[in-house]
Amino acid sequence: MNPENIFRFPSLYEYKNRALSAVNGLGGFSVDALTGGKSVLDIGCGPLQLYYSPERTRQHAAVDNSPEMVEACKQKYPRSQCLVASADALPFKDKSFDLVTIFFVLHHIDFEKWAKVLSEAQRVAKERVLVLDHIRHDGRFRGWLQKKYWDLFDGGKAYLRKDQWRETLKGLSVREFRQRGVFFGNVCYFEIDPLARA
Ligand SMILES: C[S@@+](CC[C@H](N)C(=O)[O-])C[C@H]1O[C@@H](n2cnc3c(N)ncnc32)[C@H](O)[C@@H]1O
Repeated sequence: MNPENIFRFPSLYEYKNRALSAVNGLGGFSVDALTGGKSVLDIGCGPLQLYYSPERTRQHAAVDNSPEMVEACKQKYPRSQCLVASADALPFKDKSFDLVTIFFVLHHIDFEKWAKVLSEAQRVAKERVLVLDHIRHDGRFRGWLQKKYWDLFDGGKAYLRKDQWRETLKGLSVREFRQRGVFFGNVCYFEIDPLARA
């Protein structure tokens, strides 16, 4: 079975997500200080948001290409505008939101489409695009183990090493590039200026 089928089962994904967040060294990680009081779009929202409170935003919209995830998100956050949409064709006008978040979504998208997805996120953002995703380990053993885990339980399409992330982000105005977690995790967080395409 393709592990990405879990996106059709929001409750199951929620259990996996909570467990993984701790393993990834993200327990306690929060961007609430940035998102509080702002208008925020969450791309690839899944069933819930672990890294900020949609309730504390001024306005919150969420998109996912899985109708099941969108339904679960609507149930969890009745005040949010939740829509089925693809990250590479967002149904919003330019600069519709102060902030755009795209957390653990890019690696589920073919690498050839990342530039389009990032430019869509930048297009609808006024202030910043916030990104969280995985980094592939350099070390042979940990890299092998991580790949085994991803093949069996994640099913993503593109996992970059740190140097590949840096290459991919070249030309974008990245404000921070922080790395967290050590084992399966090895997670990166960064913020992109919406207007700074090379
Ligand atoms: C690993 S989950 C992350 C969910 C949530 N952002 C989180 O941090 O827990 C990836 C989500 O991205 C969605 N997704 C994958 N490809 C997408 C695309 N092209 N457009 C929109 N959503 C997508 C999946 O349906 C899934 O809900």
